[in-house]
Amino acid sequence: MYGLVNKAIEQMVRSNHGAAVWSRIKAAADVDVEGFISNRPYPDELTYRLVAAASEALDAPAEEILKAFGEHWVLHTALESYGPMMRATGKTLREFLLRLPHLHTRVELIYPDLRPPQFSCHEVSDSGLDLHYWTTRPPGLEPFVEGLIFGLGKMFSTPVRVELIQHRENGSDHSVFRVSWEAAA
Ligand code: HEM
Repeated sequence: MYGLVNKAIEQMVRSNHGAAVWSRIKAAADVDVEGFISNRPYPDELTYRLVAAASEALDAPAEEILKAFGEHWVLHTALESYGPMMRATGKTLREFLLRLPHLHTRVELIYPDLRPPQFSCHEVSDSGLDLHYWTTRPPGLEPFVEGLIFGLGKMFSTPVRVELIQHRENGSDHSVFRVSWEAAA
């Protein structure tokens, strides 16, 4: 994945746990990179190793690290570095999710070798929708998507519930999240 993903993991760990913990995680993951370069692709495997080492060092399941990282990605990386693109995507959580399938098409203009996730929205109502998610990557990123959705809920001050109703590990080619919120009065 592009360096900005690893950079965001580094930023999250450093701000929550300090530089020494980050150094330990990097050493345990056998990652010898001093400062990730945002627009340079790194092997996916390196990112998975960092998550596994963080899980070990922080004594938390990898799913929890990925969820926290999803929230951090929206509320810090995306909003701080790509605020205009994020805000242009939607004025409400519902509008944002409906346009999410097109967001990475714009991101590809900045990062041409992107291997973006694919999304589509179904069963749309005023208080929720089913978000379908495809990835070309190894299994296990669902908690990351869940964290991203929680982050979006916070971005729009809309408390959100997320339920994984179909998991690609169970024979399907993609996962489905049932996302719901209080309909505006
Ligand atoms: C402007 C904001 C955003 C930018 C710049 C961005 C950029 C990226 C980049 C660079 C990657 C790594 C892919 C690669 O290197 O091949 C990625 C992956 C991903 N992004 Fe975004 N993204 C943004 C917003 C979002 C949002 C709001 C979601 C919400 C669901 C999202 C979901 C994902 C997922 C799930 C992946 C993992 C890749 C996979 O599933 O295969 N992104 N994004």
